[in-house]
Amino acid sequence: MDTIGHLHPSAKSWDAEKYESGRPSYSTEAVTVIARNTNLLSFSSFGKRKVLVDLGAGTGKLTRVLGDFLAQNSNDKAGYKIVAVEPVQEMRDKLADIWATRCDDNSIELEIMEGSGGDELICKHIFAKSIAEQIPLPDKSVDTVIHRVLIPGGYLGLIWNVRDDSFPLIAQLDDLIGSYYVLNEPRYATMQWKRVFEDQLLFSPLQEQKVQGYVQKGTLQMMVDRFLSLSAIGSRPESEKTQIAGRFSSFFLSSKAESPDETELYEIPYKTMIYWTRKL
Ligand SMILES: C[S@@+](CC[C@H](N)C(=O)[O-])C[C@H]1O[C@@H](n2cnc3c(N)ncnc32)[C@H](O)[C@@H]1O
Repeated sequence: MDTIGHLHPSAKSWDAEKYESGRPSYSTEAVTVIARNTNLLSFSSFGKRKVLVDLGAGTGKLTRVLGDFLAQNSNDKAGYKIVAVEPVQEMRDKLADIWATRCDDNSIELEIMEGSGGDELICKHIFAKSIAEQIPLPDKSVDTVIHRVLIPGGYLGLIWNVRDDSFPLIAQLDDLIGSYYVLNEPRYATMQWKRVFEDQLLFSPLQEQKVQGYVQKGTLQMMVDRFLSLSAIGSRPESEKTQIAGRFSSFFLSSKAESPDETELYEIPYKTMIYWTRKL
């Protein structure tokens, strides 16, 4: 997958440690919904390992839950190969370390790639998060790469944990985060990424489902890491990041008006947005 050429500048500044410690995972329910809508368990691979791609795998948060889901739900003896495509070296290293410490059954093989670069990678499923939002519009070339890698009828599934701003505290938090984004910086909330799937003949119309109720719990440090790991903040100079960390820290401490305490657990409620489409 020719990914590097299409890497948005803001996608180069990930801090793998903070990403891993601060970002939420995905609920079993959300993974079950994306798997069901993309027919993950029910296609034939003629006795060979089925290949699925986790595009923009980061530190492997989605990779791991997909692996667990397959290990628990698939009866396929041939097993699976998950190809995790991730252009940032630090993220790939973290993914490899974490995967190596897992007590995996060997029906799930992992291959980590920087980008496929050629035509050798063909698969039935691509799962992605944030990739779509990082496609530099109006250049649709990443989409055509995804199209080439999928077999006809293959599925592209997209998944995002979106903070649930129906909670007043989360709406305030969103305002604080929003103040660090510059105009036109790619992010889910702009919905610009959806335009890639409009007026085109490569993929079927995008479908969507929302799964509510996922709550990320963590210490104050995890919460601060979570926001420092956003590309819009991670790309700033260290001195500015220290100031921003202070601002998020005060925000969370003041949310516990009764007894602000660094040892308490904080919560962020999410709705998980799931989208899927098929290669035509
Ligand atoms: C928000 S992270 C998502 C990581 C992981 N999938 C998760 O669910 O936590 C997005 C990842 O996409 C990668 N990325 C950005 N642009 C990409 C591109 N054009 N091709 C492949 N990966 C890309 C970034 O390096 C980053 O690790």
